[in-house]
Formats: sequence, C-alpha cells, structure tokens
Amino acid sequence: MKNIAIVIGTRPELIKMAPVMHELMKRKIPFSFIHSNQHYSKELDGNIIRNLDLPSIDEHLDVGSGLHGAQTGKIMESIERLWTKHTPHIAIVHGDTNTTLGAALAAAKMHIPVCHVEAGLRSFDNAMPEEINRILTDRISDVLFTPTETSKEYLLKEGVDPEKIVVTGNTVVDALLQHIEIARKKSAVLRTYTLEKNHYACVTMHRPENVDSKKQLEKGIELLVVLSKELGYRLVFPIHPRTQQALEKWQIHVPAQYITVIPPVDYLDTLILLENAVLVITDSGGIQEEAYMLKRPLITIRTSTERPETLSANVIVGLDKKKAIAAWRAYKKGWGKWGNELGDGHAAEKIVDVLERMVKKGKR
Ligand code: UD1
Repeated sequence: MKNIAIVIGTRPELIKMAPVMHELMKRKIPFSFIHSNQHYSKELDGNIIRNLDLPSIDEHLDVGSGLHGAQTGKIMESIERLWTKHTPHIAIVHGDTNTTLGAALAAAKMHIPVCHVEAGLRSFDNAMPEEINRILTDRISDVLFTPTETSKEYLLKEGVDPEKIVVTGNTVVDALLQHIEIARKKSAVLRTYTLEKNHYACVTMHRPENVDSKKQLEKGIELLVVLSKELGYRLVFPIHPRTQQALEKWQIHVPAQYITVIPPVDYLDTLILLENAVLVITDSGGIQEEAYMLKRPLITIRTSTERPETLSANVIVGLDKKKAIAAWRAYKKGWGKWGNELGDGHAAEKIVDVLERMVKKGKR
C-alpha cells in the first residue's frame, strides 16, 4: 500500500479525480487507486475510465448497489479490512456519494487523515442523501479542498478551522479543459444520433426525488415534452440506469417525437452533447458545472442547487413547467451571464502541492 490512497466509486468521482491522479503521476508521487464499485456497469464506469486514461485500479471493493445503510456500511467494512493490512498515510475522497462518506468514516476511525476534494458544497436540503454525505465528510476531514470562496465561507460558518481549508477551484474545470479538444476530435455522438448544433436540447435526470416516485417521474417527462414543444426541437436524453429501471417499472411512456432516449454516453460524448445543445436540462450537480463552463443555457430540474456560482446562467425550476418555459423565454431574450467562478483549470496542481507537502512531512 502506497502513502496516498484515493477512493472513488461513481462516474462523477472518476471524472473529477482524474486530474488529481494525472498530476500525482506527473510528479511521480505513488498512490493507490481504490474503486468501491458503487458504479460497475460498463456505461457508467468502464467507458469513463477508458476516456480519462486513468491508471489501473489497485483494489476493487465490489460493493455494488444497495440501500444507503448497506452500501455505506459495506464500503466502510471493506476499506477497514484493506487498510488494517496496509495503512496509508493519507486518504483522499471526492464529493458527496455513499463511497465518499463510507471511505471518509473508515479512514477517520483509523486515524488516517482525510482529504476531501470538492468540500463545502451545500444545497441546504437535507432530503438529499448527498447533502448528508457532504456535511458529515466535511466534519471529519483534516484537509478540505473547496472549489470556491463561497464553499469556504459555508465551512467557516459551520466552525471549520480555517487552517484546514484550501480554495483550489473545481477539478471539473481541469477535466473539461484537458478533454474538450480531444472530445471535439474523437466524438461521433452528433453523427450517431443525427444531431445538429443548436437544434436539440440535452437532458439528464436521475435524482431519487425525480425518478423514485411514479408521480414525480411522470411530471418530469411531462415537463420535458412541454419544453420540447416550446423549443421546437427534440430532447436527447442519455438515460441513467436508475431512471431506466423506474420507467420500466411503472411503464411510463416517453414520446419519441419529443424525447430521444439513448444509452448512457461516455465522458467525451457528454461534453460534445452539452457543448452543442441549444439548452441543457439537468438534475445532476456535475452537469450544471459543465454546462455553465460550456456557456450553455441551463435549466435545473431541482428545487435547490449546491452550485450557486452558476446562478447567473442556471434557472432552478423544480418540475414546474411554467417556470421552465419562462426560463427558456428569458434565455431567448438574451438573459444569462457565464463567468469562470468555478476554477481556472489548475485545481489539481494546487491539491497536489498540499498532498506533496503532507507526504514530505510524513504526516499521519
Ligand atoms: C450516485 C450518487 C449520486 C451521483 C450519481 C452519479 C449516492 C448517494 N448517489 O447515484 O450522488 O450523482 O451516483 O451517477 O452515492 N446502477 C446500475 N449500474 C451501476 C450503478 C447503479 O445499473 O453501475 C443502478 C442500480 O439499480 C442502482 C441504481 O442504479 O440501484 C442507483 O445507483 P446508486 O449508486 O445507488 O446511485 P446513483 O443514482 O447512481
């Protein structure tokens, strides 16, 4: 076991930790790469790993899907077993998934310093499992890498020691800047689905609050149909397995003349789908960031966002059709301002500067 252990489990963690892993490799700092396998399907996982040119995975925990308690517990148990044999000096986790919390809890209880990348995000909505995961992970982290000054402010208000906080920018910016040119060259997604720039909208929807109830999911599909009619364009919808299963379970019809459902796409195709869409509609956190960076009009189908920096070009509508239509009309009239508050593309370097110092000090 190397000094640094990185634990990831889902698609967004892979994307956002890739720049950190690349920077570590560039500086020849060894690390072990542990995958909980919270995500395991080829579409969610394998394709992303291939796109991002990641090192091979040192340990698979094979945790798989499950209820929150079982999934988080399994992650803790398997990490503890692994680290009892070989204890790393630093544990790095990212974001707000069950993998993040499970690994952070296991590390903290073993007195292994926890570094949390993308710390300090808050939606102030405890109904989201991610909000609980973020708050608890931040509470037990030793180093908190925040993407923005706003996230630092949130942590300070919660009483986090300022010495522990390092503002770095979001690694999602690094990942996007490193891959957008490659995506433009390699991706064939527009051809595959006969899409033309600015003649379609891109939608993702997978949050439990939108897809785990029949009523909500039907409302969501209805909102998408109404938006498609208003736009005069079809929506392309790369579907998350959670959403696919819910549609099948309740036999909810998705009208193909308005919504083209496609299998999950890899990272490069995602960037191209977003970059060329006339409008992005999402309930994902990462896609809000990516759409904002790509300067696309964005509608978030949630009631809150933990990315307030995007709000100059991101309208939070829940599943309210009227609000969604009003948002699109505002964009058409020229509303929306896109800045670079999310980062400068050098977040990974700043993170690895700190990690390098910690390794040199032999901090435990
Ligand atoms: C998880 C994260 C969420 C993140 C999302 C990105 C938590 C609490 N949630 O949500 O924050 O935005 O990943 O995609 O950690 N499934 C598969 N194949 C897979 C993985 C899952 O088919 O590889 C199906 C399973 O039926 C599973 C369901 O999707 O029960 C949900 O997966 P899960 O990992 O529990 O949550 P996500 O919705 O993916």
